[in-house]
Amino acid sequence: MAPDATPWWRDATVYQVYPRSFQDSDGDGVGDLEGIRRRLPYLAWLGVDAVWLSPIYTSPMADFGYDISDHCDVDPLFGTLADFDRLVAEAHSLGLKLLLDYVPNHTSDRHPWFEDARAGGAHRDWYLWRDGTAERPPNNWLSSFGGPAWTWDEQAGAWYYHAYLAEQPDLNWRNPEVRSAMAGVARFWLERGADGFRIDALRQAMKDDQWRDNPPNPDWRQGDDPYHALLQEFSADRPEVAEVVAVLRDAAEAAHAADGRERLLIGELYLPVERLMAYYGYGIDLPFNFHLLQTPWRAADVGALVETYEAALPDGAWPNWVLSNHDRPRVATRVGPGQARAAAVLLLTLRGTPTLYYGDELGMPDADIAPEQVQDPWGLRDPAHGRDRARTPMPWDDSPHAGFCDAGARPWLPLSDDAATRHVARQREDPDSILMLHRDLLALRRAEPALTAGAYRTVALEGDVLAYLRGERVLVALNLGEAPGEVRLPGLSATVALGTARGRAGQRIAGGAVLGGGEALVARLDHS
Ligand code: GLC
Ligand code: MG
Repeated sequence: MAPDATPWWRDATVYQVYPRSFQDSDGDGVGDLEGIRRRLPYLAWLGVDAVWLSPIYTSPMADFGYDISDHCDVDPLFGTLADFDRLVAEAHSLGLKLLLDYVPNHTSDRHPWFEDARAGGAHRDWYLWRDGTAERPPNNWLSSFGGPAWTWDEQAGAWYYHAYLAEQPDLNWRNPEVRSAMAGVARFWLERGADGFRIDALRQAMKDDQWRDNPPNPDWRQGDDPYHALLQEFSADRPEVAEVVAVLRDAAEAAHAADGRERLLIGELYLPVERLMAYYGYGIDLPFNFHLLQTPWRAADVGALVETYEAALPDGAWPNWVLSNHDRPRVATRVGPGQARAAAVLLLTLRGTPTLYYGDELGMPDADIAPEQVQDPWGLRDPAHGRDRARTPMPWDDSPHAGFCDAGARPWLPLSDDAATRHVARQREDPDSILMLHRDLLALRRAEPALTAGAYRTVALEGDVLAYLRGERVLVALNLGEAPGEVRLPGLSATVALGTARGRAGQRIAGGAVLGGGEALVARLDHS
């Protein structure tokens, strides 16, 4: 590819699959690679471009695959390397890219590297050990899942650091042997066909070399998440994270040079907008922009976020947007059912690469998970943070378990309450469904270059209504409130291409519009 050509991922939509919950093929109630392979035609039909799989590697599953004990194999629960090869080949034959999760920050405590490190072997310095006594951890750092980030290891007679569970010891990326081993992991999958990585917990991959205490967070109040009682000043977003990115960038460039296929690097980064921007400079293509996950669903707030984010982007940097993922409540639950369609229009018409979380295209809500059904290790420690409710099986049709697994199998998590009626088969037949809205939006993105390449410009922010232009051709208007709202659009006239109220397509807009509660529309400007 010529160096100035647009990389494929700028025009792409990424679809996140949580492998345990997409499709079971072998009757164990847990989704697997063969199940995903069988559902690829659905994703091609939907119109997404790239599929990102949460981890599929060998794992004791303390954190459902984010605790890896063999980076270069597939967990038997999900299948085999041969299943992966079939999956990637079929994805490519359907024109879909396949992205994998890459977990640099930590391994499983059952990884042979850690077992050897613990026993004082050659891998000792691959992890982060501090001497001391069992009474007092080396500093005040906290685990994201609660409690101290240090565990005293009897066998080693030392503390080890873990940003997450004690079963997920952090790797020592200052050690060149770790860098070269983890570069090998990246090459292994890129050479096997992966089109890039979503890089897990990237901000935490390097820590302060002096292990300084984190300072207290002055905004923290009693009752808030205890993790946020401290600012993560010394345990996250250190400038040396750039060195980790460089290792992955090198692997991506080498794979690109070898086979001519451009690889994408996405970084999982819960950081303020201005800090996200540094990661473009480090070599991340898309530092995940999670700000819609926490911005109040009000036109003024969403509009201000988009402006702030657009203005902060460095030259040449490409934006991206996320509405849900496997760690947060689903968008339909956050914004409410009356706003889920407007949310889809927003995600798929903002400038930048969108990431769509499986099931969101059905308007799927968070499920109720009874205490005895909780699987998530974070939810077991702190029910308020339980992530199972956003990880329930994909509902496909009206067969038992909504077609996710065989009738005789027991799904690893319950299906969402409305799975008997909210499923792919039914929504495919219904032109008014939120699934068909997603499909039509994705088709419009392909047909209308302004929706991918056109500049973003706010044209109105009036009450609950936000309206913006994409390039000189497309107008988008969204009513983020429950009541009807009017927006003035002086001097603009357009024809509706697509709306959440499907009957509006073809209608004319001149100088303004009235939108019903939760209504959104995309229109083509007349002069273009
Ligand atoms: C990331 C993942 C999350 C996981 C954590 C530890 O935040 O998205 O699911 O628990 O990293 O790997
Ligand atoms: Mg299975």
